[in-house]
Amino acid sequence: MTFIADALSRVKPSSTLAVTTKVQELRAAGVDIISLGAGEPDFDTPDNIKNAAITAINCGKTKYTAPDGIAELKTAICAKFKRENSLSYDPKQVIVSSGGKHILFNALMATLNPNDEVLIPAPYWVSYPDMVRLCGANPVVIETTFESRFKITAMQLEAAITPKTKWIIFNSPSNPTGAGYSWDELKTLTDVLLRHPHVWVMSDDMYEHITYAPFEFCTPAQVEPALKARTLTVNGVSKAYAMTGWRIGYAGGPQTLISAMIKVQGQSTSNACTISQWAAVEALNGPQDYIIASRAAFARRRDLVVGMLNGIAGIDCPVPEGAFYVYPSIKGLIGKVTKQGQHIDNDEIFCIELLKSEGVAVVFGAAFGLSPNFRISYAASDEVLTNACVRIARFCEGLE
Ligand SMILES: Cc1ncc(COP(=O)(O)O)c(C=O)c1O
Repeated sequence: MTFIADALSRVKPSSTLAVTTKVQELRAAGVDIISLGAGEPDFDTPDNIKNAAITAINCGKTKYTAPDGIAELKTAICAKFKRENSLSYDPKQVIVSSGGKHILFNALMATLNPNDEVLIPAPYWVSYPDMVRLCGANPVVIETTFESRFKITAMQLEAAITPKTKWIIFNSPSNPTGAGYSWDELKTLTDVLLRHPHVWVMSDDMYEHITYAPFEFCTPAQVEPALKARTLTVNGVSKAYAMTGWRIGYAGGPQTLISAMIKVQGQSTSNACTISQWAAVEALNGPQDYIIASRAAFARRRDLVVGMLNGIAGIDCPVPEGAFYVYPSIKGLIGKVTKQGQHIDNDEIFCIELLKSEGVAVVFGAAFGLSPNFRISYAASDEVLTNACVRIARFCEGLE
């Protein structure tokens, strides 16, 4: 018997955080590293948002708030859902937490019982399966393929649902692939879900604003209004407004679920940071030009990275619809050998060898549940991305 809870033995540490830690170690040792591992915009938080936080501090808005958030922010969130997603939520159907991750965790904590099943399409954001396990339930992975452009089909969804299924976690555009479901693609899935009233939908819309024409974002409760009564629509300011460190996420959903999540939050973290909540009010209600400018920069970087990677023999990189990630296949490189005699048997070895020989940090596909691939976060300058792709090309060309 150990002192640490049994539930933790089922949980892996985050592979993406492990890459960040490794990069810090190497940099501290003086190694020249390009890190394309972290999932956050490289832009600064817009000034109007920072100033709103400074004003909040100067006005003494530095005390506890209601656990589920200040009324002004909940009103701004309802207006955002209406304006951008055609979804009507009452403030009682909205909760503010310390980041999108916290929202997801609260929702799972508030609803999962041992042996419940949660459907998770792979490749998935690394935290989903482990959060489910932490809550004592079982993640059920629905595998996609490179050929299906990392999207599940209606038949796969139908086959994965059992009487124990409680949730499907849906994430479009996706971390790690950038794949986004069109309205018609999503409709084929919501049609399946209509036939299974015991299955709830957790839609993680964190990358809603980072999408590239002609792709247009849509969310399940919007595509199928009949599902809204069993959908939690999750979003946040982290990716949309370069606010990862401010820790504000939010969700709209049925009041019974939101009340249960408030109960969890009220007995654990209480309210999200008061100052950050005031900053988030400005993010949602203020000028939206940052979104347009950052989207244009990310689109240019996506094209740069996809173009350079597809010029490398053995790498095949689909063009993603959104987010700031690409998820190229390295099928053509498996079985090759480095100059030092290391066999590239899988994507983890590929990424370790790439880091060792060229100092480029990326995350291996197995961490996200689909191999042989790796994830590049292209939230970096054109110069850094070009340099990284040149190094990746040199590494791949050196394999025999
Ligand atoms: C798909 C996805 N969902 C949720 C989150 C968490 O966002 P936050 O930083 O607001 O907790 C992330 C962050 O990387 C993400 O990629």
